[in-house]
Amino acid sequence: MRRAVVKGVGHYLPERVVPNAEFEKSLDTSDEWIKSRSGIERRHFAAEGETTSDLATKAAKAALAMAGIDGKDIDAIVLATSTADLTFPSAATMVQHAIGNTSGYAFDVQAVCAGFVYAMSNANALIVSGQADRVLVIGAETFSRIMDWTDRSTCVLFGDGAGALILEAEDGTGKTADRGVLSTDLNSDGRYRDLLYVDGGVSTQNTGMLRMEGKEIFRHAVEKLAQTADAALEKIGLGADDVDWVVPHQANIRIIQATAKKLGVGMDRVVVTVQDHGNTSAASIPLALSVGVANGQVKQGDLIVTEAIGGGLAWGAVVIRW
Ligand SMILES: CC(C)(COP(=O)(O)OP(=O)(O)OC[C@H]1O[C@@H](n2cnc3c(N)ncnc32)[C@H](O)[C@@H]1OP(=O)(O)O)[C@@H](O)C(=O)NCCC(=O)NCCS
Repeated sequence: MRRAVVKGVGHYLPERVVPNAEFEKSLDTSDEWIKSRSGIERRHFAAEGETTSDLATKAAKAALAMAGIDGKDIDAIVLATSTADLTFPSAATMVQHAIGNTSGYAFDVQAVCAGFVYAMSNANALIVSGQADRVLVIGAETFSRIMDWTDRSTCVLFGDGAGALILEAEDGTGKTADRGVLSTDLNSDGRYRDLLYVDGGVSTQNTGMLRMEGKEIFRHAVEKLAQTADAALEKIGLGADDVDWVVPHQANIRIIQATAKKLGVGMDRVVVTVQDHGNTSAASIPLALSVGVANGQVKQGDLIVTEAIGGGLAWGAVVIRW
């Protein structure tokens, strides 16, 4: 059985680091409120003129370097983003050009904060079905471009960044001891559109800004994240005790803690980066995976569960043997 095995991971964060205290100058907020309600201490913001595909390209090059693979040898690029440089072409084709690839195919996936698990599921399907041998999967965002800087309940929560993985086809036994993507679980429900959305777009003739019902999102997040992670594990006959690391979407430390508790996984088995990155939407999981590998938490052979939820609502989980 063909498996999509992780061969490299990398990330990039814009140079500018913005600590919570910076918001105290322009908003009725405090470092203490932001830290205690979200766990966020700082985030990175892209420089003027720095775009999502710029961040994505740097993360992609880091992942390619770790894998020892040349950009020209990638078959497909799947880039998860809600903040692409242009309406079209896709940010993925911009990355394709930047890494010197002309023989593969590239496209964006838009599932907001769940974008990375959707991209991983699609990349896995391309490999398992034989449509690609080597896939570059990226999550990259510049959410600083869609913030309402007068809305203290949203603008303090988000950040910019990118993370990337290289998946390569390998023969496995079909058992859960195999390395690679072992299971995926995707969900969406458009009834919840108004809980988290951007109030503009191409068809409505303005870029728009992010709007969110924070409390409602919180409630849905804990319930749906635990449910999707359980579902992904159950599909392959595994449970919480088999998990080495949960690598969750990094939106809010209280959501991460409540979900881990619901799953029955201790916080000593959860990779947490929200304090340093804020919510980077589709970039948050690959960023956390890259940081987790770099700091020695995530090691080859570990069973990893990633889970995410975002606008749509769209949510899902991916189980990977690293
Ligand atoms: C946004 C969030 C941090 C707010 O935390 P909360 O504990 O629910 O706080 P509330 O929304 O009840 O707000 C409490 C008070 O703090 C205020 N407040 C909101 N943002 C504030 C800020 N940055 N600084 C100070 N006060 C703030 C509110 O105005 C409210 O004041 P009020 O009681 O006078 O109306 C929380 O709801 C959350 O994280 N939700 C999920 C968001 C998320 O992760 N979204 C992305 C999913 S992909």
